[in-house]
Amino acid sequence: MTAVQRSSGDLIADRRFLYGEGLLADGDAVVAAELFEQALEIAPDWPDGHAGLARARAAASDTDGAASAWRRVLALEPADVLGARLHLGLLGAAEVPAVPPPAYVAALFDQYAPDFEAALVDRLGYAAPPALAALVAETGRTFADAVDLGCGTGLMGAAVRTSVGRLDGIDLSAAMLEQAAAKGLYDDLTVGDVGTVLAARPGRYELALAADVLCYLGDLAPVLGAVARSLAPGGLFAFTIETLAEDAGEDWLLRPSLRYAHRPSGVVEAARRAGFDRLRSVAVALRLDGGTPVEGAALLMKRRAG
Ligand SMILES: C[S@@+](CC[C@H](N)C(=O)[O-])C[C@H]1O[C@@H](n2cnc3c(N)ncnc32)[C@H](O)[C@@H]1O
Repeated sequence: MTAVQRSSGDLIADRRFLYGEGLLADGDAVVAAELFEQALEIAPDWPDGHAGLARARAAASDTDGAASAWRRVLALEPADVLGARLHLGLLGAAEVPAVPPPAYVAALFDQYAPDFEAALVDRLGYAAPPALAALVAETGRTFADAVDLGCGTGLMGAAVRTSVGRLDGIDLSAAMLEQAAAKGLYDDLTVGDVGTVLAARPGRYELALAADVLCYLGDLAPVLGAVARSLAPGGLFAFTIETLAEDAGEDWLLRPSLRYAHRPSGVVEAARRAGFDRLRSVAVALRLDGGTPVEGAALLMKRRAG
C-alpha cells in the first residue's frame, strides 16, 4: 500500500483514506465518501481527509456536500495548499479565483518534481519548449539577458540556451528549481511568483519565456504588465496558452484539470494594453491529457518602445 502524501498522524485514519482513494479511483464514490468520513472520525482536523471527502462527494454529484467539505479544508488551512478555492469555484460555490493560491501551485509542483520530465516528455508528448524555441529562432536574434518564467526543471532553458547570454529562472516550486539547478543551465534561479520577482527587475531582459505557465494564471493582465515592465523596449515575450474557443463568451476559464484556458483574442488584447505587439502565433498540441491532445497556442510578442 502506498503512503498518504501528508499523514493524518494516525495509521488507521491513513489506511481508511487510502482505501477511500482506491474506491474513488474505481468509480465507487459513495462508499469512498464513507471511508473518508470514517478517517475523519479519527482525525477530524485533517485537511487531506476533508479534501478526499470533498472529491468523493463531488464525484457522487453531491455538490453542496462537496462545497461544505472544501470550505472546511480552507478553514483548516487558509494558505490553501490543496486548492480548495479552485474546487469551490469549479463547483459554482464561490467565485473562480483570478489566480490560484501560490501555496497550491508550489505544493503541486514540489510533488510532481521527481517524475515531471519522465511523465511530461516521455509519456505525454510535451511540446511547449520546442514550439517556443522555434518561434524565438525564427527571429534570428540572440539575446544578452533572458528570463525563463515558471522554468520548472529547465526544459525551456535547455531549448534556448545557445541563443541567450545570461539566463535567469523563476519558479514557485523549490523542488522543480533543484532539478533546474542540477542541469547547470541557469545563471540565477529564484523561488517566487513571477509577477512579484519581476517587479524588482525593471527593463532587465531582452527575452522572456513562459512554457506552459500561463495556464496557472487566470486573469493575465497583471503578469503581462509585469513582463512588459521587465523587458527593454523591443524585448520579446514567447509563451504558450491553453486555448479557449473564440465564441466561449469569456476571456479565461478554469477547467476541471484545475488549469486555466484563455481565448487567444483576449490574450492579444490584454498584451496590447500591457504594451506588446503580436509578432506570431501558432497552434500547438501542448501535451496529452487523458489520451486527448490539449489544444494550445505559442505566441510571440514584442514590447513596444516607449
Ligand atoms: C507545467 S510546468 C512547466 C515548467 C517549464 N516551463 C517547462 O516547460 O518544463 C509549470 C511551472 O510553472 C510554475 N508556476 C506556475 N505559476 C507560477 C507563478 N505564478 N510564479 C512562478 N512559477 C509558477 C510551476 O511551479 C511549474 O514549475
